[in-house]
Amino acid sequence: MKAATTAIACLAALTQPAVARDVQAGAEAFYSYCAACHGDDATGGGPMTEILNADPPDLTALAANNEGVFPSARIVFRIDGRDPTLAHGGPMPIFGDTFGDDLVPFRSEFGQPILAGRGIVDIVAWLETLQQP
Ligand code: HEC
Repeated sequence: MKAATTAIACLAALTQPAVARDVQAGAEAFYSYCAACHGDDATGGGPMTEILNADPPDLTALAANNEGVFPSARIVFRIDGRDPTLAHGGPMPIFGDTFGDDLVPFRSEFGQPILAGRGIVDIVAWLETLQQP
């Protein structure tokens, strides 16, 4: 019986995300670092939009725009600057240095674990809860 309980506990652990993600901390970091452009509800239209030369996209439609799959790795790379399309800069600042001191693993949409700053992983976990069907 004990072995069965242990096996079930292991299975449960395997199906969890690679690391506990703090959605509440992610929401707070988003309000501090992102909401000025992306808006408090992440749909765009924050107060800085007026002075930007590109509109911050609706971050609640990331899954809907990707055939229903939340593109977590692409978003993390976009935020920390690993996205190769950012080589020439862009209207959005990158945050790899801001959140780079505490690297944690997360499971990407492709299944493999990837390391990223804890603050970014938390923000992306919060964004995932906002996705519209
Ligand atoms: C100075 C304004 C500004 C700030 C601050 C900002 N963004 Fe952005 N963001 C933009 C703009 C403009 C775009 C669209 C152009 C681009 O992709 O570079 C964008 C694009 C994105 C994308 C890409 C969406 C896609 O479909 O690929 C993500 C994800 C994102 N931002 C998340 C964040 C997060 C999370 C933060 C805070 C850590 C943040 N942004 C801070 C302006 C900003």
